[in-house]
Amino acid sequence: MDLRLLSRREFINITWIGLVAMLTPVSLSADTIKKEVKTMAYVAKDYSKLIGMEGFSEPLLKNHFILYQGYVTNTNKVLDSIDALLKEGKTGTPEFGELNRRLGWEFNGMRLHEYYFENLGGKGGINKDGRLAKKIAESFGSYENWEKAFKGVGTMRGIGWVVLYQDITNGRLINLWINEHDVGHPSGCNPLLIMDVFEHAFMIDYGLKRADYIEAFFRNINWNAVEARLK
Ligand SMILES: [Fe+2]
Repeated sequence: MDLRLLSRREFINITWIGLVAMLTPVSLSADTIKKEVKTMAYVAKDYSKLIGMEGFSEPLLKNHFILYQGYVTNTNKVLDSIDALLKEGKTGTPEFGELNRRLGWEFNGMRLHEYYFENLGGKGGINKDGRLAKKIAESFGSYENWEKAFKGVGTMRGIGWVVLYQDITNGRLINLWINEHDVGHPSGCNPLLIMDVFEHAFMIDYGLKRADYIEAFFRNINWNAVEARLK
């Protein structure tokens, strides 16, 4: 529209309509809000390209994918339930408290599996001249020392995760034992390499021989993906 062609009255009318539109409070219908929240729901990623990976049978991987998908579903369910209680004004209820307590378990169950699957599917060892190898050597003395320590944490009794974390405040790399999904994460640190040592991650193929599974895990680390996480 060429404003130069408008009469004064037309110009005033258009300006007035614009002003009214600006001052009218935007009220979203419940359906619209629901739709907007829905679009933020988490969607399970497809890791089927890992099938065929040496040392990991197809039944083991397929079971693991199903388990991961359950965490995605439950993360969405817990978030929706918390949202519903919030809208009903029930933030002081035990249900609200327990759902919030549960959220860390479901969310980390989802996210840690994503990190885990995404740092698999590689071939060949770490690039010994790369940034990551240098950082590992700075923090552990040598790559070999770090590998020994990481595997040692992985063979501890108990179920959980082993994570090589980067403390972004000073750059130091630290191996952490993460009990189950939600206990033991160092605040503000950056996860680089994630290894699942829950029994479902290896028992179908290795029984109680967790150390053999860890060797297979190491043969399949996608070191490029791990190095790309480095800050
Ligand atoms: Fe798992």
